Amino acid sequence: MPIRLEPVTEKFVARVTGVDLGKPLGLVDRADIVAACDRYGTLVFPGQHLAKEELVAFGAVFGEVDTTLQTKLMNRVQNRLGMDTLTDISNLDADGNVAHAQHWQTITTIGNRFWHSDGSYKDLPIRYSILNAVTTVGYGGETQYADLRAAYDSLDEATKVLIADKIGIFWSHNTRDWLKIADSPEERSAFPKVRWPMVRTHPGSGRKVLWCDSKVWAIEGMSLPEGRALVHELIEHIGQREHVYSHKWEAGDLIMADNRSTAHRGRRFDHSERREMRRVETNDNVRSLGVAADGEVG
Ligand code: OGA
Ligand code: MN
Repeated sequence: MPIRLEPVTEKFVARVTGVDLGKPLGLVDRADIVAACDRYGTLVFPGQHLAKEELVAFGAVFGEVDTTLQTKLMNRVQNRLGMDTLTDISNLDADGNVAHAQHWQTITTIGNRFWHSDGSYKDLPIRYSILNAVTTVGYGGETQYADLRAAYDSLDEATKVLIADKIGIFWSHNTRDWLKIADSPEERSAFPKVRWPMVRTHPGSGRKVLWCDSKVWAIEGMSLPEGRALVHELIEHIGQREHVYSHKWEAGDLIMADNRSTAHRGRRFDHSERREMRRVETNDNVRSLGVAADGEVG
């Protein structure tokens, strides 16, 4: 049976039903999902209560599953799910109890509250991020997705000209530093800073993308203050309501987002409530412009 698509808007976000993602996907379903993701950027599949292995198997249909985040950073503290192919997006400790406010697992997910595309700081970035909700909270805890193509289109002409040839330097620890998360020198250098054009073309739709998020540490050719002020402005622009879909999670919801055309952020919730999500990510097949020369720029 073909998948059923209900677009939220004509060009961004669709609800997808008529498919059980816990079962092996047929070639047709795979192609339909890729085409829908190319067009809508973010797909919401309700009612998908997947086992860990089923979630990883679903992700693996769309590319190589990333393990670098787990092996380079997350496993250093805990690996509650016991798999390098899955990331534990929860506020739970290693025993599965709600972690206290100062616990590393609680602190580390706070970084997700800033607009970002997953893996924007990596030389080999992430194409699809797939989030599956296990336990959801009462107040808040939404995830918001922003359309980076619409965000590019709605920039004024002078800004389009200003950023046309600009290169952003993205760093995994940009937000963590700002949040004063006390990572070790090895953690801070696990992913060297990488360079990306601030305007990219999304291969799936041929549309231009405003490629800027909270991981941008500097803009090449601009002073640090000027570059950072511009980044702040562009992120505000991305987060404007007309570019954003806000998802209030229910258990079993699964969202597949194309990081090449979207950014997202998590919203605040009460950390004493249990919030449990699992995430699988697939690698893209493009590379950044290369590693940035370290140190101060501008
Ligand atoms: C993520 C993420 C936001 C959230 O898992 O990549 O940014 O709402 N999550 O948990
Ligand atoms: Mn994320």
